[in-house]
Amino acid sequence: TKFQNDCETPTPFLRNVADAISDDMRAGLAVEGGGDLPMILTYVDALPSGKEEGLFYALDLGGTNFRVRSVQLGGKQERVVAAESEQLSIPKELMIGTSEELFGFIASNLANFVAKEKPGRFQLETGKKREIGFTFSFPVNQTSIVSGTVIKWTKGFKVSGMEGKNVVACLNEAMEAHGLDMRVSALVNDGVGTLAGARYWDEDVMVGVILGTGTNACYVEQKQKIPKLHSKSSSGTTIINTEWGGFSKILPQTIFDQELDEESINPGEHLYEKMISGMYLGEVVRRVLLQMCKTTDLFGQSIPVKLSTPFALRTEDLCKMQEDNTDDLLSVGTILYNIFEVEANLKERKRVVEVCDTVVKRGGRLAGAGIVAILEKIERETKRMASGQRTVVAMDGALYEKYPQYRRYMQDALVELLGHSLASHVAIKHTKDVSGLGAALLAATNSIY
Ligand code: BG6
Ligand code: GLC
Repeated sequence: TKFQNDCETPTPFLRNVADAISDDMRAGLAVEGGGDLPMILTYVDALPSGKEEGLFYALDLGGTNFRVRSVQLGGKQERVVAAESEQLSIPKELMIGTSEELFGFIASNLANFVAKEKPGRFQLETGKKREIGFTFSFPVNQTSIVSGTVIKWTKGFKVSGMEGKNVVACLNEAMEAHGLDMRVSALVNDGVGTLAGARYWDEDVMVGVILGTGTNACYVEQKQKIPKLHSKSSSGTTIINTEWGGFSKILPQTIFDQELDEESINPGEHLYEKMISGMYLGEVVRRVLLQMCKTTDLFGQSIPVKLSTPFALRTEDLCKMQEDNTDDLLSVGTILYNIFEVEANLKERKRVVEVCDTVVKRGGRLAGAGIVAILEKIERETKRMASGQRTVVAMDGALYEKYPQYRRYMQDALVELLGHSLASHVAIKHTKDVSGLGAALLAATNSIY
């Protein structure tokens, strides 16, 4: 069909995508706002060494979940001596509420967490304040390791009252209101947290990628290769937060992608994210199915009412349908019935699965092209893969974790573009939930005590 053709991503095309991402990376490193990718300076120059010691906390505001964590770090030998964590899903109304409501929620959960702490298991050195690494999974214009302002909201968030305001100041005010005497020592993106947390266990980690509700990549860059740094002491490395979700050139956008974008909370922005990440894949498929109902005989004469509900079909539903390997596509039928109240015949079920596959294949392959752009940049500067050194991409996010086909498409694209020889030195390592540990470690590295 036309939709399938429009979504095709043959290797030469993917090569162009990788090159265009690479150009935007270079442009974003040259000057502020130079390309689609902001290439944010994170002020993380030193990654965890393993020697970190003491009690540290992590707050993690992702796209879907909020987590609080404490870790007792025991240095090189003992590493993580004790850890405790709690996870909550972020209430929908807070995603579009005020900053006071959002940070009030964070501080009150932190206060509960600290109140429940069992004495003895965790030890704060005398005279020290409790220090926090704050994973804030949105684009932040960092002005130091402990300050920055939100550039824009993504993933369906639109919190008011934060324009130009320091994220850490918002948290500090809320903590004060809850009687919490704690200090934020590191403010990091989830990609940075993942990279740092994974590096603690594996020195070959060079990239942190998130494929979840949203998507992003952060990587280790040579300071010399960052013209906008204007730094005299430009030796060594630093972490760059690419915010690659904002990439927008030469993407195979269809009318369904355009309409999804126009009706989103952030129209015109994060177009790459809208084609590859978990928040949107199901929604693209729903839009295609709705159109098929209108123009063909899919699901009979009348259009199922629920098919018009935005986000009614979730990416995890696509995955469940693709995993159905019964001849009659029984669970595809059940899922379609449960969500849209339609009795789909076998032919219709097959067509639905084809649409899922088309959208997921495009997403996975485009994500693969992004990873290749980053790996090739690292390779140009370090030649580490050519010299046989293992290079690890630390990966987190529910989409990667839970969608095997997506993973496969991504991996295929990676090998197609990098070639077998270089790809054989690359490991994509699923490092679940290490971003909190990473943030806590960076709080330790940047501790003021
Ligand atoms: C987590 C991070 O481990 O992965 C979050 O700490 C991040 O901040 C996430 O956003 C991705 O999760 P999800 O829910 O979007 O798949
Ligand atoms: C969105 C955010 C980005 C985050 C990513 C993954 O793209 O803008 O900061 O890292 O989602 O959670």
